[in-house]
This record gives sequence, C-alpha cells and structure tokens, in this order.
Amino acid sequence: MARKFKLRPVGSQKESVHERSGAIDRREFMRLSFNTAAGLITTASLGSVGFASFLMGQEGSSSSDSSIKFYVPKGSDVWYNNMDKQPMTTQAFIDESVNSTTGMVGAAGLWSGLPIIATYIPHEENKNKPLEANSPRFQMMDGYTSGGAYVGSGYEIEEKEEFASLNIHDNMIIVFARCPHLCCIPGWQLVNNDYTADSWLPGGTDSSGNKSFCICHSSRYDHTVIEKNTARNRSNGQEFDFIGVKKTGGPAPYGMPLIPFSVNDGTIEALPDFMDWYTFCG
Ligand code: FES
Repeated sequence: MARKFKLRPVGSQKESVHERSGAIDRREFMRLSFNTAAGLITTASLGSVGFASFLMGQEGSSSSDSSIKFYVPKGSDVWYNNMDKQPMTTQAFIDESVNSTTGMVGAAGLWSGLPIIATYIPHEENKNKPLEANSPRFQMMDGYTSGGAYVGSGYEIEEKEEFASLNIHDNMIIVFARCPHLCCIPGWQLVNNDYTADSWLPGGTDSSGNKSFCICHSSRYDHTVIEKNTARNRSNGQEFDFIGVKKTGGPAPYGMPLIPFSVNDGTIEALPDFMDWYTFCG
C-alpha cells in the first residue's frame, strides 16, 4: 500500500489542507513535484540570461518573447497534455470549458521561462445573471495587507489609465505563478481536494473550489477576484503595489500579480507592462 504523506503546515497555521483534503500518497506527491521542479525548469530555461536580465531586456525583445506556451507539469494528466510547449490560444480554453461544470478552465504555461497560470472564466455569459454558486464571473474587490491596511480596489483597472492594459477581455486572465509565501509554483487542479474541485462561490471566499493551489504549504488563490495589494521584494525589501488575484487561504501574505496580455489571431501574448511586479521572489 502506498505510503501517505501529509502536507507540511507552516508556523501557527491551524487551518491546513490536511483537514479538508487528507493525505496524498508518494506517487501523487512525486507527480506533483511540478511545484518545485518547474522552478528549476524556469531557472534553467532562462539560461545565461537570468531572471534579472530578462526583466531588463524586455524593451528590445523580439515579438517571440511575448508568446505564452502551455507547460504540461511532468507526470501530470491535464486537459492540455497534447499541447505541451505549443502557443496558448483562447480557442483551446473555450473548447475545454464545455467539460467544466462551472465553465472555468485553467492551465500552466511559460512566458520566456516565467511560470504563469492562465484562467478562463465565462464572465460575459454570467455577468448579468444572479450572483449564485457555479456561475463564475470576475469580481473587483478591495485589497488589504495581511495587517489589515486598505491598499486599493480591483476597479482601478477600469478607472486608472496606468492599469488600462489589465482590463478584462476574452474571459481570461494570466497570473505570474510564484507563490508569495516561499516562491513555489502553484498549480491549477493538479491535486484533488475541496479547494481545487470544479465548483465556485461568489465573494472571494475560501470555501468552494477552482482555487489555484500551492502544494508546498497549501496557499489558495481565487482567480475570479481582482484586487489591489502590496507586495514586498524578498531581495531588497522594497514594497510595491500591484493588481492581482486574491489569496483566500494559507500562509501566503497576498495574492499573485496579473500579467496583461493581448490576443493576436487567437494566440495569447503577454505584455511587459508591469515587470517589477514579478520580482517579489528576487
Ligand atoms: S510556498 Fe508556502 S504556500 Fe506556497
């Protein structure tokens, strides 16, 4: 019988995934090693360029640097298995959405070596329907620091010119997928538990599913909630505000930042408008 592992709680975190999802066996744990292995892949794929150079080199980069490609986590069984390293298209998500109870679909990808999660949410179809379970749409909410200080509103992507490229379009968002806790790489439905099940509740609650999930210490993120928050660069200690998705649970201090993108002939291409936001892991 396969040995069972318990996910590791952090500090005083009483509410842990153990209680809701139970243990996972070694085989599943190894399969899910994407959360750490992809970090190595990410670093390796940057090669001699390195993360800092990547950030600084965007201005003169070629258009190919903007493409986002599917990344199939090693050993995983995901709906985009046969699209590994192929450019992400909106149509792929639309096609897959019919297989989802909520119409929500997510996938891991790489943008010039940086890990991302792309999420499709049937916002246009649901935005005028009653706000009820399993009728997901984007929700703009207020963001607060872990200390409770108000930072700003997700509505700023509609109200402020500086955030115009983040306006929601094509029923999709892209997030930079490094966990603000200790920089593992959260996944989309790579583990089976209540947080990752194909279900949705309004209000950015930690209940219900369709959260991206960090296996390292079980932080959860609701990609339907857009908020403004404050991040801290782990290398130099500098704080900066960003627009991102909400952390709903776990030890991460805040959510993950958005990456603006455009859709060209159906292909998703990232825009390097907010590169500073992707530096919190140093
Ligand atoms: S690195 Fe600890 S929860 Fe993600």
